[in-house]
Amino acid sequence: MTERHTPRVVPLVDQRSASLLTPAAAFSSRTRMAATGLLTDTRGRPLRDLRISVTDRCNFRCNYCMPKEIFDKDYSYLPHSDLLSFEEITRIAKVFVAHGVQKIRLTGGEPLLRKNIELLIEQLSALRTLEGRPLDLTLTTNGSLLARKARALKAAGLQRVTVSLDGLDDAVFRSMNDVDFPVADVLAGIEAAREVGLGHSTAGAAGGLKINMVVKRGTNEHEILPMARRFRGSGIVLRFIEYMDVGATNGWRMNEVLPSAEVVKLIHAELPLVQLEPSNPGETAERWGYANAAGQHDKAMGEIGVISSVTQAFCGDCNRARLSTEGKLYLCLFASQGYDLRSLIRADASDADLASAIGHIWQGRTDRYSELRSALAPDVGGGVRRVEMSYIGG
Ligand code: GTP
Ligand code: 5AD
Ligand code: SF4
Ligand code: SF4
Repeated sequence: MTERHTPRVVPLVDQRSASLLTPAAAFSSRTRMAATGLLTDTRGRPLRDLRISVTDRCNFRCNYCMPKEIFDKDYSYLPHSDLLSFEEITRIAKVFVAHGVQKIRLTGGEPLLRKNIELLIEQLSALRTLEGRPLDLTLTTNGSLLARKARALKAAGLQRVTVSLDGLDDAVFRSMNDVDFPVADVLAGIEAAREVGLGHSTAGAAGGLKINMVVKRGTNEHEILPMARRFRGSGIVLRFIEYMDVGATNGWRMNEVLPSAEVVKLIHAELPLVQLEPSNPGETAERWGYANAAGQHDKAMGEIGVISSVTQAFCGDCNRARLSTEGKLYLCLFASQGYDLRSLIRADASDADLASAIGHIWQGRTDRYSELRSALAPDVGGGVRRVEMSYIGG
């Protein structure tokens, strides 16, 4: 089956060049803020999760993320000099950890395309939380280079990976990645990750090897059951993600969203499920366990997750910050502008300056995009000038 190509909204403005100003109060001796780990935003949400995009490039062209028509040979990716160096990333990450961050996720684009990414992982894995524990250090990948790199990633200190996989049928998978990449190679990558132990993390039940499947109605919904059957009892947590109106290029339409409630219903009809308690506050996924004959969770069969950003927003306890490839801090996946931390560190700001800047920025955070969009008309979304997910990181 071929992917249906909907008309695109071409971004006329490059949102990457715009940036917000750090509040001046961050640098005044009267209102300076130190990192205490107690930081909260205007809605009382703490800062716990930092997602770092290490490249804006990808070797796939998933239609919902980097449509070929926009991300073609003429697309201008960030020049290398604009990228944060590994030392700069680690320095910024350390300040975030001092503010209470416990989980770091490397994303992209495709993070395994960044040269020597293992060196960055080594540096980040040496950081410790305020309680003195290692971070929950993870990475989101399309899996194309995983078979080759799994061992080195594990050796560098990566605890776990999440692999994107939108179907098991080779033709569906090739058409969704839009570069004709075979599904067998990604499955081999997942197997390699499992073999080297990239499923053990300090996050306990919330950790582990995971697979993310973006579900688009009319494109891959018939892959839901085969995926559930395949990964049930495998020790891998499969999560179904509602197709989101992120970015401004994917031509998102509400009628292509398959609500998570329908995913759960479909699976439950064949493989009974029971709802599980959240394992962490602020978690993206709602957890469902496979049930035994007595209707209780059969732990050996494992669980699935559903991520329902469109039909059931989870902004209420969103504790996630995002650092773009060139060092801008975004307070929401759907933000249109970020705060330029790179210019601060390249202008010789001290760690205390950086901590104060991040503190003031987070303290002023009001973002809750998904909640607000649910209150709008159902088809509102596409066309707003938001940054792309390949730039800001998933
Ligand atoms: P775990 O710690 O492994 O549970 O990871 P996670 O669920 O925090 O992160 P992951 O990157 O696997 O998230 C899965 C998907 O959920 C992403 O690819 C996005 O599609 C979506 N997502 C993640 N964070 C957010 C968020 O803050 N807002 C919204 N709207 N969607 C998000
Ligand atoms: N909707 C939902 N998830 C998306 N991702 C990228 N674009 C979208 C979108 N439009 C997520 C997928 C993928 C990860 C890298 O980003 O989960 O696995
Ligand atoms: Fe690449 Fe992931 Fe975006 Fe697909 S979803 S284009 S694999 S970054
Ligand atoms: Fe957080 Fe923004 Fe996602 Fe809401 S939409 S959960 S505030 S990143």
